[in-house]
Amino acid sequence: MVWTSSPVKSLKGVVRAPGDKSCSHRALIFGGLAAGTSRFSGLLEGEDVLRTGWAMEALGATVKQTGPGAWEVTGVGEKGLSQPDKVLDFGNSGTGSRLMMGLVSGYPINVEMTGDESLRSRPMNRILKPLRLMRGLDTAGPDGKLPFAIVGTESLKAITYVPPVASAQVKSAVLLAGLNAVGTTIVEETRQTRDHTERMLAGFGAEITTEETGEGRVITLTGQPELEPQSIVVPRDPSSAAFPVCAALITEGSDVLVPNIGLNPTRAGLFTTLREMGADLSYENEREEGGEPVADLRARFSPDMKGIEVPPARAASMIDEYPVLSVVAAFAQGATVMRGVKELRVKESDRIEAMATGLRANGVSVEDGPDWWIVEGRGAGGVPGGAICASHLDHRIAMSFLVMGMATNKPVSVDDGGPIATSFPIFEALMGGLGADIRRG
Ligand code: S3P
Repeated sequence: MVWTSSPVKSLKGVVRAPGDKSCSHRALIFGGLAAGTSRFSGLLEGEDVLRTGWAMEALGATVKQTGPGAWEVTGVGEKGLSQPDKVLDFGNSGTGSRLMMGLVSGYPINVEMTGDESLRSRPMNRILKPLRLMRGLDTAGPDGKLPFAIVGTESLKAITYVPPVASAQVKSAVLLAGLNAVGTTIVEETRQTRDHTERMLAGFGAEITTEETGEGRVITLTGQPELEPQSIVVPRDPSSAAFPVCAALITEGSDVLVPNIGLNPTRAGLFTTLREMGADLSYENEREEGGEPVADLRARFSPDMKGIEVPPARAASMIDEYPVLSVVAAFAQGATVMRGVKELRVKESDRIEAMATGLRANGVSVEDGPDWWIVEGRGAGGVPGGAICASHLDHRIAMSFLVMGMATNKPVSVDDGGPIATSFPIFEALMGGLGADIRRG
């Protein structure tokens, strides 16, 4: 269904972002492995995460909602994962499907997996290749797109793996396979990616260490740990907070507070970039919660932002935020240059293509190449709008264009707002509470 966002005078108030998607997936997975009952609060109840919960249930765990955002998971413990009696459908979720491919490969079960049209088009050889190495095979096999089955084995061999792409999903899939492998699994990362798997596995009692070397990070996991159940408060998602923050920066007269946002340095690249552009964005009440750095973000309308060159080394720490950054860039003065971002082309959609097309349709000049793009800023109040943009089954593309419509001269529409429910089911209501005007149909 078409959703339309119309320009508003200002956005004001406090907005409570949903739980972190990456942490929520991992909480359900590790809770589902531990011997005993784990309790989670603040869990994201978006479609992607719910599907991971259903998958863990199909594999033998008990997953129960006990209140809003509150979940209890009783893990399989020593008996291990069992053969599911249905195909596991991960919907739109790259994280859920890829982490689960690694996880199930260490058990003697045969797990059929599928997903929606977007997920079925995404590359999976990046996961299948290391998993084959752990089985003693060295081919990446045919095309590697879902649907397919992972045929697991109890005799998985621990390996040392250097992921060819900077991807927390690849790193995590190998580590999750390593959980039931014999020996020590090592992942050598040349570019640091989000480290929630390492942090949370350590919290659940696994023997896992990270060593910084001159060339990157070496993560070492001892196989076959006994995971202990945990109680975890899931931090609020910086990738969801990005939308109200960016909306406030570009919309005249705005002043928005987004409390309790996880600011793990492997995730906070967008906020560093916005501040370099001259955004009025402050961290208030900085503290640590549940092993993660947290702060309240305060964003105010910033009419004097300037385009910058975003350092490619920062890409992994803001990989999901480039779409909404490109919207802010449209309201800055001068060009914003984003390089070293070819991974954007294989996310839920080709995010460079999707954003460039929609920005151009709304009067913004964009140049792009295989792993770079440049957005020509038109300054505050200078973006015409008025077009309908394709969201390509991609929640972040849909939300980015709706944010844009809050500050353009004419309304901006997306052809399908449905995918927003995968990561931010309360987006419309929360943004409406700040004064946004988003309508369906
Ligand atoms: C995620 C890792 C990122 C990110 C995705 C969530 C995770 O993907 O884009 O939304 O939770 O591990 P890559 O690791 O493939 O870059």
